[in-house]
Amino acid sequence: MPSVSMTVNGKAVSGDVEGRTLLVEFLREKLRLTGTHVGCDTSQCGACVVHVDGESVKACTMLAAQADGAEVMTIEGLAQGDKLHPMQEAFRENHGLQCGFCTPGMIMSAVDLARNNPDPSEKEIRDWLEGNICRCTGYHNIVKSIKAGAEAMRG
Ligand code: FES
Ligand code: FES
Repeated sequence: MPSVSMTVNGKAVSGDVEGRTLLVEFLREKLRLTGTHVGCDTSQCGACVVHVDGESVKACTMLAAQADGAEVMTIEGLAQGDKLHPMQEAFRENHGLQCGFCTPGMIMSAVDLARNNPDPSEKEIRDWLEGNICRCTGYHNIVKSIKAGAEAMRG
């Protein structure tokens, strides 16, 4: 069994994986970081989005072995102690959470968007969210949250 090593949320981790082990399985099952969700088996829902070397990636589309040596950030790594990340805070304040299942992936995608495009328009946010499915509601409050979160990230 190959062994992989990576940095996850700032901590060096390693473990044995099978060649077919997905990054999302490694995170959830080996590291018990269950904030990254699995919501489909078709790579459509985006519940599994994490950052790999600073870019958002669907963790169900990448093998753990492909992340060998990478810097991975999951939703658990965003807050600083008790202080929520501005994007998490914006979701809380703008009622961007309903059941919360899609939220980790939405937030990780949103943080990547805001880093690349600090002042995204509503259309740009909706385009960016094409790969993230929310089954609870329309996307209105999620879009509002991302707009507010991006603004807060600009400082
Ligand atoms: S679980 Fe990865 S896209 Fe749905
Ligand atoms: S908040 Fe329930 S799936 Fe999006």
